[in-house]
Amino acid sequence: MPEVGESLKMADTEGSTPQETAVLTYAGQSYELPVVTGSEDEKAIDISKLRAQTGLTTIDPGFANSGACRSAITYIDGEKGILRYRGYPIEELARQSTFLEVAWLLLYGELPTRGELDTLTSEVTRHTMLHEDYRRLFGFMPKSAHPMPVCAAAVAALATFYREADTDERTNRMIIRLLAKMPTIAAYSFKHSIGQPAIYPRNDLNYCENFLHMMFATPCESYEVDPVIAKALDLLLILHADHEQNCSTSTVRLVGSSLSSLFASIASGISALWGPLHGGANQKVIEMLQRIAEQDGNADRFLERAKDKQNHVRLMGFGHRVYKSYDPRAMILRETCKEIISRVGVSSKNLEIAMRLEEIALSDEYFIERKLYPNVDFYSGVIYQAIGIPVNMFTVMFTMGRLPGWIAQWLEMRKDPDFRIGRPRQVYTGARQRAYVPLADRG
Ligand code: ACO
Repeated sequence: MPEVGESLKMADTEGSTPQETAVLTYAGQSYELPVVTGSEDEKAIDISKLRAQTGLTTIDPGFANSGACRSAITYIDGEKGILRYRGYPIEELARQSTFLEVAWLLLYGELPTRGELDTLTSEVTRHTMLHEDYRRLFGFMPKSAHPMPVCAAAVAALATFYREADTDERTNRMIIRLLAKMPTIAAYSFKHSIGQPAIYPRNDLNYCENFLHMMFATPCESYEVDPVIAKALDLLLILHADHEQNCSTSTVRLVGSSLSSLFASIASGISALWGPLHGGANQKVIEMLQRIAEQDGNADRFLERAKDKQNHVRLMGFGHRVYKSYDPRAMILRETCKEIISRVGVSSKNLEIAMRLEEIALSDEYFIERKLYPNVDFYSGVIYQAIGIPVNMFTVMFTMGRLPGWIAQWLEMRKDPDFRIGRPRQVYTGARQRAYVPLADRG
């Protein structure tokens, strides 16, 4: 394993030297603010000294215009539909790579050599089992619980079993444990919810095959893993592996910025991902498609409702904070979706409705004007359903995929020379100072 952070240097330290400035005029005074240039020539105004120089702060609800860090991990151009991990286009990784290879790339900055990949694979394979005392934790959770809070609680609890890492070597061991145990935790959370005994991992299977085995085998019946399904799952994990400073990743960084443990930071990321506007959207997409199918199957009528602001209905799986064109991951999954549906031989009403919704939305003025295109979640749910993953596990699948990205971002933050605890400002809009009124005088 490389030293943690060894290859996490910023891609373009020269680019961070301010070349240009922006001028802010306020109260008759002008202030020069440095402009920072990234390796893809994107520009940002550096406001880190703004308050000290001017007494002003900025306000940007939802952080739509605010960069929180410099990062050399993932590049997105939302206008052009570009996504790259460490410079490699997502389309090339999807076609040629594997999830563990991509995990290494995100974590250590370069594609692994054969030897490095073999070491990672063997380490991950040998750490998939859960401590028996830890395994019992699942028994204390209600069976009706959604598997996402179960996973978040289980990952947070890893911190009670494994010592905080104080060296690079220990950090690497924590990373291996997380990557190795996440599929086991995910599968156990599912088995617990349906009242079946947990299935132990098998070291002769690869990452995704092993996950499918733990999900679908029982103590009385083995499960024949279809390599095509395992490969499709691997692809889904690659596509979800990182997505720069989104809600859950920013949460991981913010929690980690207080120097809390990697396990605690990842557990917080899982909680952030659970929401329906983020990772929970894939579950909401299937629920939406099923509702349409059960009603009258009429995609056109549903779309009218999604456009009507009185309804508070959204076309789930459409729209993205960053992509203002087709999400490249959705493009890849659209094809995989058709292949998987025909491979498993199911007729998918959901896929039919999804394709019809997409067709109408892409030519509808409302969606065109707002640049709303399918996002990664639009097709992922249909694939998960076809391969037998229960709907409430969809977001857990996303968690498994996003894990290496979260860890890579956490590592990068810890090694960042500009590292500071995250602490946004606010514009206070509450009451001005007033005198305390004793209880007896309050009427
Ligand atoms: N259906 C209908 N209208 C939509 C949709 C949608 N899916 N998404 C956005 N809009 C409309 C909004 O109503 C708004 O219209 P207005 O300008 O007339 O008020 C406009 O488009 C802009 O929408 P915002 O909510 O301001 O966009 P924002 O960038 O804040 O939100 C988000 C992005 C949360 C992804 C949003 O598009 C959405 O809710 N989509 C559905 C949920 C979803 O698929 N989430 C998954 C995102 S991908 C991921 O996390 C992996």
